[in-house]
Amino acid sequence: MLACKCHTMRVLVIHGPNLNLLGNREPDIYGTQTLSDVNDLIAACAADLGIDVRCEQYNGEGQIVDVLHAARQQYDAIVINPAAYAHYSIAIADAIAAIGIPVVEVHLSNVAAREEFRRASVTARACRGSIGGFGAAGYSLALRALKELLER
Ligand code: DQA
Repeated sequence: MLACKCHTMRVLVIHGPNLNLLGNREPDIYGTQTLSDVNDLIAACAADLGIDVRCEQYNGEGQIVDVLHAARQQYDAIVINPAAYAHYSIAIADAIAAIGIPVVEVHLSNVAAREEFRRASVTARACRGSIGGFGAAGYSLALRALKELLER
């Protein structure tokens, strides 16, 4: 996809494993908003920014690799919360590096302030940037950052 001002920017948001359980899952850490609530916020932000957005959720590592490969033909940029895969999936990191479109990593929680094993992200190293600790607002921040980047 060409990064230019001549078409509406298309962004794919990928939610990784266990994020389908948002709202019920460890609400003290991840909040009480469901994934559907989060996707509504993303859609509202995208509409404000004039971005076409699609949100998908996958539990499987291979599924995420396949979706990243396919996305390079269809989207200008990607926002991904790789969830636990961030901490060890070289396959997802390699896929991000391979596709050549900007990818921003988002974490709902502040992973830098949590258990030792969450402090490193192998996937963030392949991304244009990363945002964590702001809950669902992180996705809006990522969309804003990508818009600014692609319109530069
Ligand atoms: C998470 C942080 C990860 O460490 C964890 O495995 C998740 C969610 C977050 O959004 O804060 O599943 O990616």
